[in-house]
Amino acid sequence: MGSFPFLVTLILAVAFSVHSCPPSDRAALLAFKAALTEPYLGIFNSWTGTNCCLNWYGISCDPTTARVADINLRGESEDPIFEKAGRSGYMTGKISPEICKLDHLTNLVVADWKAISGEVPDCIVSLSSLRVLDLIGNRISGEIPAGIGNLQRLTVLNLADNDISGRIPPSIVNLASLMHLDLSDNQLTGEIPSDFGKLSMLSRALLNKNQLTGSIPTSVSCMRRLADLDLSMNRLSGSIHSELGSMPVLSTLNLDSNSLSGQIPPNLLGNSGMGILNLSRNGLEGQIPNVFGSKSYFMMLDLSYNKLKGPIPSSLSSAKYIGHLDLSHNHLCGSIPVGYPFDHLEASSFTNNDCLCGNPLKTC
Ligand SMILES: *[C@@H]1O[C@H](CO)[C@@H](O)[C@H](O)[C@H]1NC(C)=O
Repeated sequence: MGSFPFLVTLILAVAFSVHSCPPSDRAALLAFKAALTEPYLGIFNSWTGTNCCLNWYGISCDPTTARVADINLRGESEDPIFEKAGRSGYMTGKISPEICKLDHLTNLVVADWKAISGEVPDCIVSLSSLRVLDLIGNRISGEIPAGIGNLQRLTVLNLADNDISGRIPPSIVNLASLMHLDLSDNQLTGEIPSDFGKLSMLSRALLNKNQLTGSIPTSVSCMRRLADLDLSMNRLSGSIHSELGSMPVLSTLNLDSNSLSGQIPPNLLGNSGMGILNLSRNGLEGQIPNVFGSKSYFMMLDLSYNKLKGPIPSSLSSAKYIGHLDLSHNHLCGSIPVGYPFDHLEASSFTNNDCLCGNPLKTC
C-alpha cells in the first residue's frame, strides 16, 4: 500500500527528467543568448526556467532524448511577435562557440537579423548531426570554417548576405548530403574548387555576388541533380565549356557580369530544359548558335553586353516560348526575323548593335 505514492512519484520524476533538457544544454543556450542583443522584440524573454525544451522561443528538442535539436530564429517571420512589434528583426552581437556544446543540434537557423557580426565558430564542424546551417542576412565576417566538410549530414548551407571572406574551403566538396548551397553576396575570393562536381546531391549552387576568380570548373557538368547554378557577379574568366549544355536537370544558369570569353556553346542554347539563361556582361564572341527548336522554352534569355556578331538566329522563331529576350549591346547585324517571338518584343531587346534592322527597330 505504502509503495503506491512512491511509485507515482518515481514515474513522475522519470517522466519529467526525461523531458527536461539537460542543464548543460540549457547553459549552452544561455551563453548563446548572452552573446547577442535583441533590443526590439523580446524573443529571448521566454528563455527562462530550468526546462529549455518547454516554450523557449525558437527552441525544440528531441522528444525522446530531451536534447536540444533545433535553434530556429528568423528575423523575417510571420510570427505574432513580429506583427505586434510592427517591425522585422534586428540583433547585434555574435554567435557564441558555446553552441557547439549542443552536440545533438540538427538545425541551426539564425537568419535575417541584419547586424549579428563576428565569425562562424570553427567548432561548428564538430556538430555531426547538423542538417541545416542557415545564417543568411547578418554581418558575419571571417572565413568559412576549413573543416566544414566534416558535416556529413548537412543538406543546407546558407551563409548568403554576410561579409564572409577568404576562399571556399576545399573540404566543402566532401559534404556528401548537401542539396542547397548559398554563399551569395559575400566577399569570397579565390577559385571555385576544381572538384566542386563531387557534390553529387546538390540541386542549387548560388555563389553569385562574390569576387571569385578562375574558370568554371569542368567537374560541374557531372552534377546530375543540379537545377540552379548562379555564378553571376564574380570575376570568372575562361570559356563556357559545352558540357554545361548537356546537364540533365539544369534549368537556371546565371553567369552574367563576369569576364567569360569564347563562344556560346550551341548545346547550351539548344537544351530544351534550359529556362533561364543570363550570360549578359561578359566578353562572349562569335555568332549566336542557330540551334533553337520547337522545344526551346526560355522564360529569360539575356545575352546583352557581349561581343556577339552575325545575325539573329532564324531558328528563334521556332521556339515554343521566349519570355524575356535581351540581345542589346552586341555587334549583331541583319534583319530581325518576323513572327513569334519577335512580334511581342520591344526595341530595347535589340538596341545598341552594329546594324540590326526591322520591327521593332527601323525598317531595313
Ligand atoms: C542579367 O544579368 C545582368 C547583369 O548582371 C542584369 O543587369 C540583368 O538584369 C539580368 N537579366 C535579367 C533579365 O534578369
